[in-house]
Amino acid sequence: MLTLKKKTAEALAAAVGSCFPAVTLTADEIAAMLEYPPDANMGDLALPCFKLSRVLRAAPPQIAAALAGAFSCTEIARTEVAGGYLNFFIDRTAFSARVINTIRAEGDMYGSPRTGNGKTVVLDYSSPNVAKPFHIGHLGTTVIGHSLKLLHEFAGYHCIGINHLGDWGTQFGKLIVAYRKWGSREAVESGEIDELVRLYVRFHAEAEQDESLGDAARAEFAKLEAHDEENIALWKWFIEISLREYQKTYAMLGITFDSYNGESFYTDKMPRQLDVMREKNLLTLDDGASVVNLDEYNMPVCLILKRDGSTLYPTRDIAAAVYRKETYDFDKCIYVTSAGQSLHFAQWFKVIELMGYEWADRLVHVPYGTVSINGAKLATRTGNVVLLKDLFAQAVEKARAITLEKNPGIENPDEIAEAVGVGAIVFHYLANNRMRDINFVLEDALSFDGNTGPYAQYTYARTASILEKAGECGEMKSYAMEEAEVALCKTLATFPETINAALAEYEPSCVTRYILELCAAFNRFYHDCQIITCTDETARAARIAMTNAVHTVLGRALGLICMKTTEKI
Ligand code: ARG
Repeated sequence: MLTLKKKTAEALAAAVGSCFPAVTLTADEIAAMLEYPPDANMGDLALPCFKLSRVLRAAPPQIAAALAGAFSCTEIARTEVAGGYLNFFIDRTAFSARVINTIRAEGDMYGSPRTGNGKTVVLDYSSPNVAKPFHIGHLGTTVIGHSLKLLHEFAGYHCIGINHLGDWGTQFGKLIVAYRKWGSREAVESGEIDELVRLYVRFHAEAEQDESLGDAARAEFAKLEAHDEENIALWKWFIEISLREYQKTYAMLGITFDSYNGESFYTDKMPRQLDVMREKNLLTLDDGASVVNLDEYNMPVCLILKRDGSTLYPTRDIAAAVYRKETYDFDKCIYVTSAGQSLHFAQWFKVIELMGYEWADRLVHVPYGTVSINGAKLATRTGNVVLLKDLFAQAVEKARAITLEKNPGIENPDEIAEAVGVGAIVFHYLANNRMRDINFVLEDALSFDGNTGPYAQYTYARTASILEKAGECGEMKSYAMEEAEVALCKTLATFPETINAALAEYEPSCVTRYILELCAAFNRFYHDCQIITCTDETARAARIAMTNAVHTVLGRALGLICMKTTEKI
């Protein structure tokens, strides 16, 4: 479906062509200038003509008047020149009926930009470091990453979700030392990841007093790299214990991965890439280490091999990117991590380009801001973290209590409590632009009042209960509509634009904000208009169709940001 903005912009492009023959403006350029006025009295859409005065070499009011004279578009009933603005008023009933009937016909594919055409997108997200706590700091990469996957799938891309587990590195040397000194098989089996984290935290505390511990850890990691059997067995076991834990959390979010190939998977794939770097004369020695000099690009050197010849994080990322290109032939490979890693990605993306891989520009880093808890920085080493599983457990507990209080006889309290509790946290997290730093205040995240996830899920359930009572949902025909109905249809009409923006900006929060707008519009409509009890048959049918459209779009939108919905709450 062409959106109102697009249709209007196309008609405007034609008007520009006839009034200002010397200038060509594309519909897309004009669409980007169109605005939704804050108040419907100023029109349903507006063109601020000052944005054109430079190219068209005329004063804004003159431009507005000229374009008004030449403009014609079936969707727009009339135009009005107001100072430097050209305001557009839609034919409200025709417009609304078109929106509602389109949603009825397209169902939950309404809003899909259909730009994917089966092209492949690889998404690398969540990717926790094994044996370190899976905490609130990972919420961002996990839910932003998965939402981006769902958004791309919705647009028709074939998506591969990869959990690039941090399953290699010196932390395993530390853990092996700590386990042998202070741990036991029974304690790890029963304490699971918590016990591993306890060992890891203890290692750091004791290493501050005892320098020999650091050397011992390096030695154990070197043995691991040399495939020492006993260390390999421990390493595999640590990964297994950690994965079990992560998967419980992923299940609560409805997340599955197509691949868990972590950093260790690329060990044997690095030598080939090192050869390419040598062939291209990219490697230089820097204090015994091999690096790629990036002075020319205003970046510090990219470390490839340590002095002892062992590989590093960027080396593994380079090998992984080539492997993924060869395996999946991606159109785009997206990495979601905290902004703290932006330089790392910029550096090795550049190295990939210098290595001569012409697909270097298809690598995309999507960063996000930092998370603190109640104003304090997260710190794994000292144990100052909130684990995701604990956070979710608290939220689910609260949701269960509220659900049972409101609806003691409800059939599936566990399912609802999980959807609502986890949903509250996800929604709270995705409410802001991803680059904004977040101070996580637990009380706010667990709040069910106001503009929260539970409020959106509750609104969704409300549409479901109306539809259950309403029966058939037919076509919408013309009738004298209320303000609240027109406003609702206008909001439904902007869903496709929202999806486009979310994809273009890699920004799931566009969808979160849209959900709040849609809920507000629906709840106003619900308050102002009779739906099932309406005695005018045409209006009743239209309102049921509108409720059905909200059910479809809201359900889709919530799903796109990793929120589960339930028909009853
Ligand atoms: N394991 C890393 C971390 O926790 C994130 C990995 C991101 N993905 C990548 N291909 N580098 O910081």
